[in-house]
Amino acid sequence: MKEQDPSRLFFSGNEMLAHSKREKLIYTMIVGQPVYFLTTLDEFGNDNTMVVTQFMPSADFDPYRIAFAIRRLNITDNLRRQTYDNLRKHPEFVLSLGENKLADAVSICGDPYIPYGISEMEVAGFTRLPSRNVAPPGIQECKVNIECKVDRIEDLTMLSIVVGTVVGLNLHQSVWNRIDDRLAQMELIDPLLEVDVVGNPPRHWLVTLNKERPIKRKLVGCKGSLHGRFDQWMKDLKQDGHITDEEEEMILNIWKRWENFRDPKKNVQMKQLLSSICKHIVNEDWDSLRTELNVAPSSSFHLKY
Ligand SMILES: Cc1cc2nc3c(=O)[nH]c(=O)nc-3n(C[C@H](O)[C@H](O)[C@H](O)COP(=O)(O)O)c2cc1C
Repeated sequence: MKEQDPSRLFFSGNEMLAHSKREKLIYTMIVGQPVYFLTTLDEFGNDNTMVVTQFMPSADFDPYRIAFAIRRLNITDNLRRQTYDNLRKHPEFVLSLGENKLADAVSICGDPYIPYGISEMEVAGFTRLPSRNVAPPGIQECKVNIECKVDRIEDLTMLSIVVGTVVGLNLHQSVWNRIDDRLAQMELIDPLLEVDVVGNPPRHWLVTLNKERPIKRKLVGCKGSLHGRFDQWMKDLKQDGHITDEEEEMILNIWKRWENFRDPKKNVQMKQLLSSICKHIVNEDWDSLRTELNVAPSSSFHLKY
């Protein structure tokens, strides 16, 4: 809608929401949001890493608090998001600042296809960085890791605002060495910024400060959508000829045998098998996937639970 000054446009809150370019209007307000990996633990001790950009780095001082917004439900199946569940049960987390060289891991952690309880860190090939003051680990490959305890969770309509107290900051020495030169520090970290959702299948579009655009990253998950389930992803892989009917069935059985009993100590074999299957799939290493399925004990393919 035109303002009296023809060089300006004004949208009321409701007009923004109803507008066909609503997403673009929202991204116009945001400009570019740094990408963070957010790691939590479930009740069995499995670590889970998602990507978060709706982040506020200085929500409060003394104690120093940060805040971010996460969805409570998955868009496709309305199941509870694992991070939200984890934070309610185990109120601690680590935020690890994303870097350009880790763009592929953004697909693995930020597109919701890796099954519950399977560590995105393992699938992405990250090294766990033990935390000092919280139980969830950070990420060795990230130069900045922030350990936090949940201060409060405010449930809004679809998202929840999580406020955390920072209880530890783990910096790589090289970042510390540039502490008085912010530009040199940013250049070193080479952070990823989220600026839009584009493409088919739609994916978050990332850029870096040196304007590399868009960042080329792996496509993980369903062909047709940003959000989907593990079984739909497997169906897509079958339709594309990457796996056979039989292999799809084997993978889904292993998945179910893990999902029904997500204890990493008692169901260690299923966890290892499914992690390694996910890793071969995201690396598009079909030969290793086939070998893995061939050597897996046949009992893995029959549902017991
Ligand atoms: C670049 C990028 C930014 C994202 N930012 C957010 C965010 O700020 N809040 C959110 O709830 N989901 C965000 N997501 C989506 C989640 O990371 C994704 O759905 C994830 O799989 C949820 O994990 P969970 O089900 O294990 O909790 C983002 C994804 C990407 C790729």
